[in-house]
Amino acid sequence: MNGTMAQGIALARGIVEAVQDDAKLLEKNDFLICPPYLHLAPVQTELSMAVSLGGQDCSPFENGAYTGDISAEMLRDMNCDYVILGHSERRQYYMESNLMVQQKAVMALEAGLKVIICVGETEEQREAGQQNDIVEQQLAGSLPSGGTGDNVVVAYEPVWAIGTGKVATIGDITAMHGHIRGLAPKDSRILYGGSVKPANAAEIFAVENVNGALIGGASLKAEDFVGIAKV
Ligand code: PGA
Repeated sequence: MNGTMAQGIALARGIVEAVQDDAKLLEKNDFLICPPYLHLAPVQTELSMAVSLGGQDCSPFENGAYTGDISAEMLRDMNCDYVILGHSERRQYYMESNLMVQQKAVMALEAGLKVIICVGETEEQREAGQQNDIVEQQLAGSLPSGGTGDNVVVAYEPVWAIGTGKVATIGDITAMHGHIRGLAPKDSRILYGGSVKPANAAEIFAVENVNGALIGGASLKAEDFVGIAKV
């Protein structure tokens, strides 16, 4: 929930300009931007084939009388290819349960979207050594049946590392991504999220089973966002 429409458009334009003529970069990376709902339409007009569009959330319901909601079908109609679901901020501030995330994912797949399902433990849960169980429960409860490696992406985002500048250690990331590899649909991409920036991206991308990143703060500057892909 950042920025004005003019800022969103400028950011999208900056990202597209920085990547669209860089064949080497595009060969190595897929780019996706997920702006706030209100910015989807104007941002869409800025995008080229090089950058895909996604939503940050969607309704667990089909189109109908759900005031304030945006359906998966509406996102698809706006040329979104993806939707992020179960981000820790949604789980924390809006009490979204695994079941609700799963219902949203079912709607999204039915609408032809690919889903990015976010999971991750809190600091207290990690200190208690519960991170593997928590992530396993989240995946068991949130993944839609019928999900495949093609339409399900999993994002591991330790809650304590999001927007805090704290990054999980390479050992923590290696262990958790290995764990998720055994639980996610075969060949799903597994993204790491939590204070990823150009300065730490190379060592994170070198970890086995890290197939990309979900970027928050650093995505607000085109230079930093694209800089992460360039490492
Ligand atoms: P961050 O956010 O990169 O600012 O830690 C990640 C996220 O919001 O998923």
